[in-house]
Amino acid sequence: MPAFEVQTSQRVYSNVVERGIIGSIRDFLPATTGKLFLVTTEDVWQLHGSKVQAQFEEGELTVLFFPGGEPNKRLAALEWLAEGMSEGGADRKSLVIGFGGGIVTDVSGFLAAVFMRGVPVLQIPTTLLAQVDAATGGKTGVNLRSGKNLLGSFHQPIAVLIDPDVLCTLPEREYRAGLFEVIKCGIIRDRALFDLFSQRADEILSLQPELVEQLISGAVRIKAEVVSADETEGDLRRILNFGHTIGHALEAETAYARFLHGEAVAWGMAVATELAAILGMLPRGEAKRIQEVIFRFGPLPSAGGLDADRLLMRLGKDKKTLGGRVHFVLPTAIGEVKIVSDVETSAVRKAVGETLR
Ligand SMILES: NC(=O)c1ccc[n+]([C@@H]2O[C@H](COP(=O)([O-])OP(=O)(O)OC[C@H]3O[C@@H](n4cnc5c(N)ncnc54)[C@H](O)[C@@H]3O)[C@@H](O)[C@H]2O)c1
Ligand SMILES: [Zn+2]
Repeated sequence: MPAFEVQTSQRVYSNVVERGIIGSIRDFLPATTGKLFLVTTEDVWQLHGSKVQAQFEEGELTVLFFPGGEPNKRLAALEWLAEGMSEGGADRKSLVIGFGGGIVTDVSGFLAAVFMRGVPVLQIPTTLLAQVDAATGGKTGVNLRSGKNLLGSFHQPIAVLIDPDVLCTLPEREYRAGLFEVIKCGIIRDRALFDLFSQRADEILSLQPELVEQLISGAVRIKAEVVSADETEGDLRRILNFGHTIGHALEAETAYARFLHGEAVAWGMAVATELAAILGMLPRGEAKRIQEVIFRFGPLPSAGGLDADRLLMRLGKDKKTLGGRVHFVLPTAIGEVKIVSDVETSAVRKAVGETLR
């Protein structure tokens, strides 16, 4: 049972990766916990809820349904879920359980952060993206009309329980989109993890269980290490944004309708890799290997036909740019990246032009 410890100023907790773990949630509850409120979506509950419910007595667990979807990741949902908790007799000792994709873990985490000024949350992510990214690190939040995740809080979970088996029901496109965040972890910090993608692509795509567990563990280990060393988006944590500068611009430019997050990040990684090669920071052969692996896990929705000027303008608007400067996380080898500020716009334009199609 691989468990990866995350050390933060708020708390120290484990990310446990284990097949079937959603059937043993009880083992991870604090001894003196109050009422339990599980936030989920109807689809996830229908597919996997019985395994969770079976551990609890009648009335022990209150299930609160959230409609899901990015448009519903709003403050209104939070109020409505909080009312549900209150009506269900929640108090300061209550525990929130987030059981779903990244939208559910973000919303349930934020709910726990603000309910009665903060109650604990246990995260049980059910998409690959949420398992390797969203559920760990304590970032929680909801969207405003003017932008994604603009309202939120750092609220670390008491544990993150990751069951690779729940991925068997995930739509294939969602699975592939999540894989790009794992590929990202390989490129920024773990060449052996990256190599699995070039050597065992078919098995990965057919969800070979041991391999999926290995990939999740590899990515979770890296996220746990990085978050532990740097809880709140300093330089180290920023390496996790590899591919995200362009990725966020692509998502925004297409009104979040064309790409899944991981797909936009895939294009973003391909562009950043090209940029690193153009700047002479990464040997051409390494760049080619990275791009080949990225495209092997496609197909990606087309990124052609987008206005490069508008994309470049958006780079300045990303909330992760500091003081108006665009920071790029660029690979210097497979397994190593560097943060570079003030990259020449002409080089970015060239990389965008040569990569997006
Ligand atoms: N807090 C963070 O650090 C962080 C990091 C990355 C992403 N995020 C957030 O995560 C969200 C995206 O998360 P996502 O990609 O998981 O999308 P999602 O939560 O919308 O889930 C995708 C779809 O899959 C369904 N689903 C979930 N688990 C399933 C399963 N096991 N089988 C079948 N269907 C299943 C969901 O109901 C949904 O319809 C975004 O809002 C993003 O901002 C947060
Ligand atoms: Zn991401």
